[in-house]
Amino acid sequence: MSLKDKIIENKLPSHIAIIMDGNGRWAALQGKQRVYGHENGVESVRSVIESAGEIGIKYLTLYAFSTENWGRPQDEINALMGLLVESIANETENLKENKVKLRVIGDVKSLPLEVQKKLEWSINELKDSPGLNLTIALSYSARWEITEAIKNIAIQVKEGLIDPDEITDELISKNLTTADLPDPELLIRTSGENRISNFLLWQIAYSELYFTSKLWPDFRGEDLFEAICNYQNRERRFGKTSQQLVS
Ligand code: IPE
Ligand code: IPE
Ligand code: MG
Repeated sequence: MSLKDKIIENKLPSHIAIIMDGNGRWAALQGKQRVYGHENGVESVRSVIESAGEIGIKYLTLYAFSTENWGRPQDEINALMGLLVESIANETENLKENKVKLRVIGDVKSLPLEVQKKLEWSINELKDSPGLNLTIALSYSARWEITEAIKNIAIQVKEGLIDPDEITDELISKNLTTADLPDPELLIRTSGENRISNFLLWQIAYSELYFTSKLWPDFRGEDLFEAICNYQNRERRFGKTSQQLVS
């Protein structure tokens, strides 16, 4: 029996975010270069997108390249950017068939022009898809995003468009790159690292965190189902007592 059958339909998280980590270590374990791990990670991305769509997840956000990843060796960055262009070109048709809509969050302008163009093309191809909302975080970091939001709000205050008293939790959310996405109920990180690495800091205030030692290229739809089952067995209290939730 697949874990899929254990998933409770009316308790599905609407938004799942994933820190896809461990490609380099996966490659090293087979005596290969890090890039080999990134290449194999694409299959995991495909599997997770299809599986998420299959069970009716509405939003899936994947952390693919962080602001800090620009500090990696240039060879690896070039390989990752090349792989990105190739994957978008190869996968867009399949994404369309799976009714997936695409968006990107992050400092897109810092990406090579070729990547920007391919992304634009793919986003346009998929703009009418009615299914899963896929968000890829590229050249993204939460501190970058929050800094941008603060600048934006400061400008609006300066121009007299809003009063400082009107700065609320909601207004801050509306100024983030994820403005029209719900906060993720579930955040998954692979590779055994128990950290957030500058991902969605504001949005995960009350997310359930799920860490698995599986390296990203080994992660498949079934692992996603396992994470969802684990999530469904938790009690989300939001500061209240257990008793309050029952009554
Ligand atoms: C995740 O795998 C992919 C990116 C960060 C781009 P890593 O490349 O971080 O692999 P490890 O963590 O070094 O094994
Ligand atoms: C986090 O992975 C970023 C992505 C998965 C894109 P890293 O491998 O860059 O994170 P750290 O440096 O180990 O925290
Ligand atoms: Mg890593």
